[in-house]
Amino acid sequence: MKFEVKAGGKLNGTFRVPGDKSISHRSIMLGSLAEGVTQVTGFLEGEDSLATLNAFRAMGVKIEGPMNGKVTIHGVGLHGLKKPEKELDVGNSGTSMRLLAGLLSAQDFDSTLVGDSSLNKRPMRRVTVPLAQMNTVVETNDGGTPPITIKGGKKLTGFHYDMPVASAQVKSCILLAGLYASGETCVTEPAPTRDHTERMLRGLSYEVITDGNKICLTGGGTLTATNIDVPADISSATFFMVGACIAEGSDITLEHVGINPTRTGVINILRLMGADISINNEREVGGEPVADIRVRYAPLKGINIPEDQVPLAIDEFPAIFIAATCAEGETVLTGAKELRVKESDRIQVMADGLTTLGIDAKPTEDGIVIQPGKIKGGTVDSHGDHRIAMSFAMAALIANNTITITDCANVNTSFPGFVALAKQTGLNIKNLI
Ligand code: S3P
Repeated sequence: MKFEVKAGGKLNGTFRVPGDKSISHRSIMLGSLAEGVTQVTGFLEGEDSLATLNAFRAMGVKIEGPMNGKVTIHGVGLHGLKKPEKELDVGNSGTSMRLLAGLLSAQDFDSTLVGDSSLNKRPMRRVTVPLAQMNTVVETNDGGTPPITIKGGKKLTGFHYDMPVASAQVKSCILLAGLYASGETCVTEPAPTRDHTERMLRGLSYEVITDGNKICLTGGGTLTATNIDVPADISSATFFMVGACIAEGSDITLEHVGINPTRTGVINILRLMGADISINNEREVGGEPVADIRVRYAPLKGINIPEDQVPLAIDEFPAIFIAATCAEGETVLTGAKELRVKESDRIQVMADGLTTLGIDAKPTEDGIVIQPGKIKGGTVDSHGDHRIAMSFAMAALIANNTITITDCANVNTSFPGFVALAKQTGLNIKNLI
């Protein structure tokens, strides 16, 4: 699938983007493991969160929906999962694979997790190494990549893990295994990462103690079902936020967006660049802060992106790089090596695409240096990375000719309906099969 986006336009309107991917995954996982029935609203009906949903169905959990974002999960309790008939295929979804690895290592059955060609290149030792210290038997390919094979029937022991990388997926994997381990399991983060797992565990009445950068829980408790309202995904809202920042005459309001402080790096970074963003109607929904975000066009300036914002904006950099092209002065990103092991090597793939479009973008080992310039038309390869595809689509707003983006089918992993919504709000985009 290709996107063809005609140059020019501006974004206007008040609208809601689909549900948060991270929270949608966790709602299925924790709802399945709870005692009782969990009702989820605002669930992301994208391929990634559906991969998690299907994995739990394959392990015997009765799940109704999704229907207009509503999902009903008949929880089986922490010890109620059944051995799946075959390997669990989680497609493009790193979150499904890494979180499930923790959970499955504590079950009494063997299991195997497989993924698509992108996921099959991504590093899994970051979860299998600490899991081994909990007495699990979890293996990967020689290169530390999927498939992951897991031996069931192990008695897990709690431990303290000092995480070398700031990763919410690793933290969540260990905490999920910790639910089944003897004694206390703690994770110390080198920098704050998204805390949806901790918040949702507490929402399901499981005690999680956060003390600075250390998060602990004690195994052997139970999860109690509750209702979960999934906010709109700030990572999906980002494409529109950037579009509105860069296209003159834009004025949009994104409704009911999750503004958990572990996710708002994009707002902080865009504001440092001079963006006109206001946060209105702040409220809390099921333990997660939510607001309506208004973004109006404003001239931007280049900055050195503060490294403490990197984990808080980790999925938003492809779009932020587009904003950097029309800022006054250069933008420098450092401390973001993790971008190289996302759905694609986001530093290299963005640098290549920007170069094709006439921008001076120099990749570095752990970041990029972008000089402002006029974006010209051309064809860029998204390498099957949903966030790269949507970022380059927004670049057309400020381009002087049509931008064609190839390999876009994976936009459906996180943002079903992107093309229709983008068109409705002012982007001149069409899908070419
Ligand atoms: C996620 C954590 C982040 C993020 C990913 C979703 C999560 O990955 O990039 O899209 O839901 O926990 P890392 O934890 O590897 O940084």
